[in-house]
Amino acid sequence: MADHDTAFTPASTPASADTSTPQLRVESLLVAAARPAPEENAPVNDPVHFTSTFHGTATDAVPGQRVYARMSNPTFDGPERLLAELEQVRDAEATPALFFGSGMAAITAVLHLVPVGGHVVVPRHAYQGLGSLLDQLAEAGQLSVTRVDLRDLDEVREVLDQRRNAGGTVDLLWLESPTNPMLEVADLPALVALAHEYGALCAVDNTFATPLLQQPLRLGADVVVHSVTKYLAGHSDLIMGAVVVDDVELRARLAGHRTLFGAIPSAMDVYLALRGMRTLALRLERAMDSAAELARRLEARGSDPVRYPGLASHEGHALAAATLQGGFGAVLTVDLGSAARADAVVHGLRLWTPATSLGGVESLVERRRRFSSEPSTVPEGMLRLSVGIEHAEDLWADLDQALRAADAQSGAGR
Ligand SMILES: Cc1ncc(COP(=O)(O)O)c(C=O)c1O
Repeated sequence: MADHDTAFTPASTPASADTSTPQLRVESLLVAAARPAPEENAPVNDPVHFTSTFHGTATDAVPGQRVYARMSNPTFDGPERLLAELEQVRDAEATPALFFGSGMAAITAVLHLVPVGGHVVVPRHAYQGLGSLLDQLAEAGQLSVTRVDLRDLDEVREVLDQRRNAGGTVDLLWLESPTNPMLEVADLPALVALAHEYGALCAVDNTFATPLLQQPLRLGADVVVHSVTKYLAGHSDLIMGAVVVDDVELRARLAGHRTLFGAIPSAMDVYLALRGMRTLALRLERAMDSAAELARRLEARGSDPVRYPGLASHEGHALAAATLQGGFGAVLTVDLGSAARADAVVHGLRLWTPATSLGGVESLVERRRRFSSEPSTVPEGMLRLSVGIEHAEDLWADLDQALRAADAQSGAGR
């Protein structure tokens, strides 16, 4: 097994916001950050502030004044700073992350940075919710969209060139790596440079990689988006999103959007997300180890194409090894050739939960094309597997029996 498969070793060490405990490793930072000051009788956890408003008579000219909880809530402060530190912004005090009511709300806030009539370039296989939203905005005449294969730098350059030669602009290059659900891996530094060469803002949805494997802001990206719902919160018990930027002005614009569009999460969800983040490193390490093992075993059956960036057979393996530091994620796909066979396997599973979403402690499986909004280039019989933290042998035994049962039923007798 390659190092990447076995050991979760964060490539870099973010500086702690607390300068008295500098250079904590990421596993320690996740546990130690966002706590009350260590004073006698102090609680170990910050209280959750269930309030919609704050005492005050100050005018809007007073910086830092709490006014109304659609603008800010003290419950958010520590966790938002922690996420900014994980994404390695230069100064997490100045540019803490911004939490949103969902990943889609976070995406909406970023799309709102595009001027009316602007142009967005997105990967063909980006998260389908983003695709549907962009289609709606394009139909309403608010912006236009081009879809590209983000693995093909020449194609991306050609699209940018065409826009420029036609006298148009590209306002936003949206990236996702690995992509959902095709697990395509992007050359992030090259694509970020390309976006900037053509004057576009570059946003990266970092949900699949998490800030533990990849920090796009360090590679020059302008914006990072998360569905906190997934790995960060990690327990499939809440819906939440986040945006992280390393620019005070850009953050202020996004914060303004959050206040006025009202896409704020509840204090309880922020608390639960922080509680989930405490164990992110452990959960991810376990899930990635199991995902790598399951990918190898599925591939060794020799019958159905398996996609996992950690497999040498994955076309983006070398790139993933270079850009994802510490592992290859915990999502894999297997193409079972037909919707009927894939559905039969899903129905035969007992431990795996048939459900959409990913990144929770429980392993989930779904045939993505069951959604009509999924692009037709995603194979009909492809299952996406989000590997959780159960024992890998139990996960394998369940998969193996469901595959055998489905094939026995169809007479394939594999
Ligand atoms: C990569 C990615 N980004 C964004 C989202 C949207 O997040 P949410 O469901 O929290 O709105 C999802 C949801 O599946 C996702 O997979």
